[in-house]
Amino acid sequence: MEDVLAGLDYWRNLEAKQQPSWPDMAAVREASAELASFPPLVFAGEVDQLRDRLAAAARGEAFLLMGGDCAETFAGATAEQIRNRVKTVLQMAVVLTYGASMPVIKVGRMAGQFAKPRSNDFETRNGVTLPAYRGDIVNGYDFTPESREANPRRLVQGYHTASSTLNLIRAFTQGGFADLRQVHEWNKGFTENPANARYNRLAKEIDRAVHFMIACGADLGEMTRTEFFVSHEALLMDYERPMTRIDSRTGTAYNTSSHFLWVGERTRDLDGAHVDFLSRVRNPIGVKLGPTTTGDDALRLIDKLDPDREPGRLTFITRMGADKIRDALPPVLKAVHDSGATPLWVTDPMHGNGITTPTGYKTRRFDDVMDELKGFFAAHREVGTFPGGIHVELTGDDVTECLGGSENIDEASLATRYESLCDPRLNHMQSLELAFQVTEELTR
Ligand code: PEP
Ligand code: CO
Repeated sequence: MEDVLAGLDYWRNLEAKQQPSWPDMAAVREASAELASFPPLVFAGEVDQLRDRLAAAARGEAFLLMGGDCAETFAGATAEQIRNRVKTVLQMAVVLTYGASMPVIKVGRMAGQFAKPRSNDFETRNGVTLPAYRGDIVNGYDFTPESREANPRRLVQGYHTASSTLNLIRAFTQGGFADLRQVHEWNKGFTENPANARYNRLAKEIDRAVHFMIACGADLGEMTRTEFFVSHEALLMDYERPMTRIDSRTGTAYNTSSHFLWVGERTRDLDGAHVDFLSRVRNPIGVKLGPTTTGDDALRLIDKLDPDREPGRLTFITRMGADKIRDALPPVLKAVHDSGATPLWVTDPMHGNGITTPTGYKTRRFDDVMDELKGFFAAHREVGTFPGGIHVELTGDDVTECLGGSENIDEASLATRYESLCDPRLNHMQSLELAFQVTEELTR
């Protein structure tokens, strides 16, 4: 126990990238102590269950769907927005379940996705330079000195916002909202829209499959509930560490802020604080891998984060860019495959495909996202590994942040409803379209 605790703080000796510069360390210690005294948001048994589910995906027997905002905001934690996001993930999951003919593991990028890594520590507007926005759990988005100063009280607000978000997610997914028959009706609404006519054939097949299941007497009670997990980037050490507790049954550490945690492309250094810290918690862990990743990088991450090669422990989330994935991914897959390791492989087709329009909007083309997805499946076919899931930035609202899709959002339309404070997200329609196109890919 002493050793476990000492280990959990070993990261303090290492470089922790992307941390805010807090103006008042005493206030940070106070907020951390408060967090450490709060109840856990998730419990160890659920975390273990997700690890089992992910192990099935790593074996090729399940498919992972992980999605949600780039950056959740405190103001955005409303019943309506949470409902729309959960609804979108559930709708996509039904389509993908048909496509993959496998259970789909549903994980929201939700209830804690509040901290963002930034390329620059500062932002300059009209000659004024202020600290960059690092997510609602650190500072405010408004471009004033007061708002941009890192405020440790936000750590506590982050916990409470995550708590109420998770509470609603649990209510929705256990209380009847997730009923398969209802989700299927929503999907019919999508395919009856003339803009989505190309998906009619597939929609009919899914409709027949659902009716077949009901006719066979599938358990209607079971159909009304669904498992739904949450995840976020484990970035902000002053939140992640106090939320990490020793499980009394096993004496091991669990990060109780989320079921699944990942380390980002910018903070995945082998000898950095984040990788060390995550190596010491029992939660299933993800690592983002960008286009410069070598097979050797991946093998060393496996040795550090999953030395026992435990099924479901480690997920690699590749985000290479549509133009690079077909060259960059196969050698990494091959090196890992040849080593005998079997991590779960998931694609993030968003983060390698960012562009900025001449009018200054950060956006992504739906077609590039789809192209990376297809490259992901092709790379796995080539090497003989299993393409085990997708990780996407999405919202359930009708925003206009990504270009294209059947509504044909163009550059001029971006201004209509661009709400993300960070990266552009697929809107509700684009998310469903993605699910249909992935299903076309899986069933072709
Ligand atoms: C993200 O997922 O929002 C993110 C910052 O990703 P990456 O670490 O892959 O850049
Ligand atoms: Co993002």
